[in-house]
Amino acid sequence: MGKDVIIACDFPNAEQTLTFLDRFQGQKPFVKIGMELFYGAGPDIVRQIKARGHRIFLDLKLHDIPNTVKKAMTVLRDLDVDICNLHAAGTIRMMEAAIEGLTRPDGTRPLLIAVTQLTSTDQETLEKDLLIEKPIDEVVMHYALNARKAGLDGVVCSPLEAGKVHEVCGADFLTVTPGVRFADGDVGDQKRVMTPAEAKKVGSDYIVVGRPITAAVDPVAAYERCINEFVG
Ligand code: C5P
Repeated sequence: MGKDVIIACDFPNAEQTLTFLDRFQGQKPFVKIGMELFYGAGPDIVRQIKARGHRIFLDLKLHDIPNTVKKAMTVLRDLDVDICNLHAAGTIRMMEAAIEGLTRPDGTRPLLIAVTQLTSTDQETLEKDLLIEKPIDEVVMHYALNARKAGLDGVVCSPLEAGKVHEVCGADFLTVTPGVRFADGDVGDQKRVMTPAEAKKVGSDYIVVGRPITAAVDPVAAYERCINEFVG
């Protein structure tokens, strides 16, 4: 898979999502469906968007005992999504079980990537809430390596971590990076951001872009700007 822009479709219902996607006449952007839309609209929204010809990153961040994650992954596999994810904190065994559940009888499967530490977790909460006393960068790289050992395809990470993840886990280990903003755009609640062009320079494989596209006056133009800056 080459570099691509994934639009975070953070809408509350199917109607708003499909109306948004209707704007992209003739184009089929890669879309991310998160918990809000999936839990609100149900699995049918995945089938509908897939039937329109889009690729889908289903961002449900699974984290449970290995057997439960394995069975849930089989359900996601049968929804025919292109990328799904889980928390690396669930352990290597859980990640291996996820791959087993995701693999089709013919040996193919959707890509599977891991969340290492959420970007909402900082050094202080890592230590105080989770009792993890190592530096957060070390924890992120350790979890990324665990994901690699379990056979996963990559991680969700900040574009600021993408270079290091490739150094530690290999150039072919995917980095899927949110926290992207245009140089002249609103940062909003994201703290550490990069432009699509900068994310390309540091080696992100996919950028996940939400509000800079979904809240733009002209979302199609904003998407095309992302593609031009990131894919070139
Ligand atoms: O609107 P914005 O571009 O900030 O959206 C980014 C998307 O990426 C959202 O769906 C958000 O939940 C997701 N995300 C993130 N940071 C992470 C993991 C996921 O912003 N560490």
